Amino acid sequence: MSEIEKVKNGFFASCPGGLEEFLLEEIESLEPKKATIVRGGVQFEALPEVAIELMFKTRIASRLYKTLYTFDIKTEKDLYYNAKDIKWKAVFDITQTFKINVIQSRSPNGKKRSKFENSMFLAQKFKDAIVDTFRAAYDGARPSVEKVHPDVTLLLHLEPHDNPHASKEKASILIDMSGRPLSQRGYKVAEYEAPLRENLAAGLVKMMNPVPGEDFIDGMCGSGTILIEAMLQAGDIPPCFLNLSWIGSDRRFWDVEHHFWFFKSDYLKEKFKEIVKKYEEQTEAGYEKLKNLPGEFRGNDINPDAVRATLENLKRAKLQARVELAIGDALELESPSDKGIVVINPPYGERLGADDDLEHLYHEFGETLKHKFKGYRAFVLTGNLPLIKKISLKTSRKEIVYNGNIESRFVEYQLY
Ligand SMILES: C[S@@+](CC[C@H](N)C(=O)[O-])C[C@H]1O[C@@H](n2cnc3c(N)ncnc32)[C@H](O)[C@@H]1O
Repeated sequence: MSEIEKVKNGFFASCPGGLEEFLLEEIESLEPKKATIVRGGVQFEALPEVAIELMFKTRIASRLYKTLYTFDIKTEKDLYYNAKDIKWKAVFDITQTFKINVIQSRSPNGKKRSKFENSMFLAQKFKDAIVDTFRAAYDGARPSVEKVHPDVTLLLHLEPHDNPHASKEKASILIDMSGRPLSQRGYKVAEYEAPLRENLAAGLVKMMNPVPGEDFIDGMCGSGTILIEAMLQAGDIPPCFLNLSWIGSDRRFWDVEHHFWFFKSDYLKEKFKEIVKKYEEQTEAGYEKLKNLPGEFRGNDINPDAVRATLENLKRAKLQARVELAIGDALELESPSDKGIVVINPPYGERLGADDDLEHLYHEFGETLKHKFKGYRAFVLTGNLPLIKKISLKTSRKEIVYNGNIESRFVEYQLY
């Protein structure tokens, strides 16, 4: 058996592929001891209060985990015996329910896959080790597994070493700090076909880097995700803005509020209150800033149900007063000014629409941009690479981003 390392201040934040640099920026602004981009996220070392503040601050992270232990394993048996050596009753209580997730990734250099074939079996062995440790300590009593609303979610992450001859893999045990996606801001009360995740939309806004005060138009706004994220960033309204009245209240919002390492520390609980206050103040100042910002936010969609969904979401976010909404064909859009941003996330065949019509739609939208949006920067997000070629404009930038597991392109056109 290999040695178990207890990790003191190690964290891992995951995010949609392609947005890692933005996540790193957010983390670095909080001054961690160390932060490195890894596949699908950022690994960092920091004081616990830094990681806690990240949960309030991050627009980009999907989840945030605290790393508890690491050790090497060669077989499932190694996993069982190592995990059985951990003092689980110091991690959570027998009365708390738990759940196990397993992720097997490639080696850091991307060349080796995890050799373990059955992740369910790994989860089973890991669970047995936890349960047996409790049973031994509590006369046969054990905590229950709960799949839907567990008190504690543990993540077992397996990663082969780069060395091609190494037969062991690195096992890390992490605890999910939020227990719910950090991307859920609380404003998505209505959805229209294929809405983007809020953190992906936030990343797109960061890529577009809108100039404060210039017009911002989403020509195919769907449920309004890009528009709302653009407004939140323009006002510097924190992403946790709608959840602040829940966070830190008696009603549990994030799992961390029920984690031993957190709630047994008066220092951290005090810090948590201070952070809530700071972000409450930032929310208030943000709405004020947005109210006084020149420039227009416009949302347009051909489908009335989509516009209705955008309106519902805007209302929930208390942002409807700053937006002009219209039902209409994006091919007939007119620019309200001589510079700004126009963005679309058109249907692209994977989930919506039929290809022939889409070729026409993409081509014609390119023509609309050419004739009606001189002086603007235009952006198109699509998961369909042949379709993007139907836009006959010069591409000035192309980024790869992952929309769920769909490899997509975010393309910029500068229109002169
Ligand atoms: C993938 S969805 C956009 C999702 C959106 N970004 C969100 O996060 O909710 C595509 C949208 O394009 C709209 N659409 C399709 N053709 C259009 C057109 N010609 N003009 C305006 N909107 C159009 C659809 O009604 C749909 O709402």
